[in-house]
Amino acid sequence: MKQSEPVIRKHANRRSFLKNSLAASAATVGVGMLSKGLSALGADHDHDREITEGDAAILRFLAAAEILETDLWQQYNELGGVDAPVSGYQTGLTQLDGDMPQYIADNTDDELSHELFINAYLKSKGAKTVDLEKFRTLEGSEVTDIPGIDGKKRLTNLMELTVNTSWWTRYRSTTQNPDFGDTFPNAIPTLAVGMFTAIPRNNAELMIGSTITPVDNHVQAIANTAGFHFAFIKQGGTSLYASIAQRVSSVEVLRIVLSIGGTEIMHFQTWHDKAGNAKPLTDGALVFPDLTNDIPQPESLQSNLIMPEPTIFLSKKFPVCSIIRPTATKGVAMGAVKALTADGLFRGQTPEFFEFLRDLAEEADEARREV
Ligand SMILES: [Fe+2]
Repeated sequence: MKQSEPVIRKHANRRSFLKNSLAASAATVGVGMLSKGLSALGADHDHDREITEGDAAILRFLAAAEILETDLWQQYNELGGVDAPVSGYQTGLTQLDGDMPQYIADNTDDELSHELFINAYLKSKGAKTVDLEKFRTLEGSEVTDIPGIDGKKRLTNLMELTVNTSWWTRYRSTTQNPDFGDTFPNAIPTLAVGMFTAIPRNNAELMIGSTITPVDNHVQAIANTAGFHFAFIKQGGTSLYASIAQRVSSVEVLRIVLSIGGTEIMHFQTWHDKAGNAKPLTDGALVFPDLTNDIPQPESLQSNLIMPEPTIFLSKKFPVCSIIRPTATKGVAMGAVKALTADGLFRGQTPEFFEFLRDLAEEADEARREV
């Protein structure tokens, strides 16, 4: 009981502080302002405020992450999205779900909107924005059967990926949580070693015009790799936003982080569901096991267990809880940079690119909640 006393006192202090500051602003804003009602003291009021250096640093790191995300989704969209011409690759994607091309196009739009919104918001606050155009130096797919792809410079590399799929078993665990130091096995162990392409690198891997099923084994392997990569990217975004939100100071910036972070969660849930439909196959070193529930699977692999299993959270003294995991906030931005680098997404990028990204991550990780 003694331990809870300071907590209660803190609450009392905060409440009286809020009451005092509301009284103070009521005294100064006058009757006209008050007649606008609570909104004058709520979101609108907050919007006129400057943001802290910490909030700007967090938003800049998120802007960079969104720019990189946009770049990778654009590559998927050009080759497999709903506006891309029919191909063996696109048909391979539709083996995971008939709506995959639509989802890819929509996910691309969403990332672009995140990138543009965060930069516009930073600008509105007089803060520095983020531009990665000088790092657009990577060669992408050499497909020529779709115009405009070959020769286009990219920020990210989708052709030499090492895809971690431990999020699959992590979200199925009922007893472990990465925030407690736990590690999780890969659902697709072969994807986590070696380097694999998630997009057709050339016309032979695209198979323009082909709707034949079953899809060519190698092309289906590329589509399967994409399917798991989609979810890998999104589980990262899901944890990144939930973790970094805990360092935000302004209520409005918190609103931005929670609202954009929420769509990352929606994307993750969708891609998590679709990845489970990846066609079982072997393509050289790459093996996709059958994860569907048609055959007996341990629960750590069962494809229809896409709802986060309740697990330990904060302390083992509490009952298990269905949650995003991880959400520890220390070093989260640098952790995201490391995870994307290990994914192979930046293979071929310049030392200047890594330095720039690490600087943004360091500044975001130094941000502290100031209230
Ligand atoms: Fe995003």
